[in-house]
Amino acid sequence: MLSQLPNSITSPSWWQLINWIADPIGFQHRYSQKYGDIFSMHLSGIGSYVIIGNPQAIQEIFNQDSQFDIGRGNELAKPLLGQHSLMLMDGDRHRRERKLLMPPFHGERLQTYAKQICLITEQIASQWQIGQPFIVRSAMQKVSLEVILQIVFGLSEGERYQQLKPLLTAWLDMTDSPLRSSMLFFQFLQQDWGNWTPWGRMKQRQRQIYDLLQAEITEKRTKQDEQRGGDVLSLMMAARDENGQAMSDEELRDELLTILFAGHETTATTLAWAFYQIHQHPDILEKLQHELDSLGDSPNPMEFAQLPYLTAVTQETLRMYPVIPGLFPRITKSPMKIGGYEFDTETTLMPSIYLVHYREDLYPNAEQFKPERFLGQHYSASEYLPFGGGSRRCLGFALAQLEMKLVLATVLSKYQLSLAENKPVKVQRRGFTLSPTGGVRMVMTRKR
Ligand code: HEM
Repeated sequence: MLSQLPNSITSPSWWQLINWIADPIGFQHRYSQKYGDIFSMHLSGIGSYVIIGNPQAIQEIFNQDSQFDIGRGNELAKPLLGQHSLMLMDGDRHRRERKLLMPPFHGERLQTYAKQICLITEQIASQWQIGQPFIVRSAMQKVSLEVILQIVFGLSEGERYQQLKPLLTAWLDMTDSPLRSSMLFFQFLQQDWGNWTPWGRMKQRQRQIYDLLQAEITEKRTKQDEQRGGDVLSLMMAARDENGQAMSDEELRDELLTILFAGHETTATTLAWAFYQIHQHPDILEKLQHELDSLGDSPNPMEFAQLPYLTAVTQETLRMYPVIPGLFPRITKSPMKIGGYEFDTETTLMPSIYLVHYREDLYPNAEQFKPERFLGQHYSASEYLPFGGGSRRCLGFALAQLEMKLVLATVLSKYQLSLAENKPVKVQRRGFTLSPTGGVRMVMTRKR
């Protein structure tokens, strides 16, 4: 079986696993130089993956997404998210659940969140003191957590809200380095011995989170649909599938945690990278501030979202810093030909955002941050894929892009920031995601 996979990496599978956990970007860079844009890695105890950085082959995958099991390929996330998570579903069940979850994150609904996102950002930024360094990733994590709690969970005050906030942060921080992330990949580290083991501590926090979420759901269930409010949880509770079926408590709970898990760190991390790059390039900062100032005093938040240069800056950040090393794995359900290679049933293919986004034929000088490359230029779905594609395209892609633009616009139009350190910031694994090492230290120099 292994020998049939294209361009197999030959080093021992335990060594590949360690390298994949420690430095997934360096790993892909090294082997793509050796083997080209399609090669196969073998992770000890986890399985073999064909990594694909070829846009045509990725387009073939997106076009036939129903021919793959994708939820099954996300099994590693099951202990964190629960069995009713959208990410772990396949086939009709996945289609049905996506239909239920989509509306609150798209279209007109989004506009109703815009003001709230700006207010949350203002409130968190107002705590920065002139001359006192702060970690921008942590600040952005506060913003994105608050956005999820208010917009998705419908919580902005009260005892449950006060308890959930630190618990959720502590739960996610448990995998904040490559070493601590290892427990997600090694089953032997997944021992629940209460406070004695990291896994036990994580499970304990998860149980506390479950209890609080259940209490919130139970309380909302006592109200009529129209009394519950406009948050995503209320909309999810009111939604019915084509058979008139509502979501169960367990489904609601697992989906809340999935949205939190998928939407909170990803957005915070990408924003941290955006602040980093913008402040490394004074010309980019100046252009952005000029564009923001052109809207005059107190513009409508949705006007920010239309600004071309601000949009290009967010697009370029998402290109340069993919939040996950590869898209969700796609497992073939029958023999298939992709990218000119024949694959057996049960082969796992993993399109790589990183390999595509750093292709010199698509993005010349790919190592350089150049928002201009997105002005007037259109890339196809398999040439630019920060949010994945096909049937699994990120559920929150519209919210994430809106949030990024609103947060950047709110901060940059009111504050003058600068980087607190002059050294380059490297990428480091944080759970399943990739994050800036140290979180990017910045300082506010004055109010604008
Ligand atoms: C900058 C921020 C974000 C980035 C870069 C990002 C990226 C991604 C990627 C690459 C995927 C996998 C797609 C695939 O394999 O084809 C994904 C899936 C997903 N994302 Fe996001 N995401 C972000 C923010 C969000 C937000 C804000 C939410 C929720 C509100 C969210 C919810 C989800 C969910 C639920 C899935 C699974 C979809 C499914 O299995 O059908 N994400 N995201």
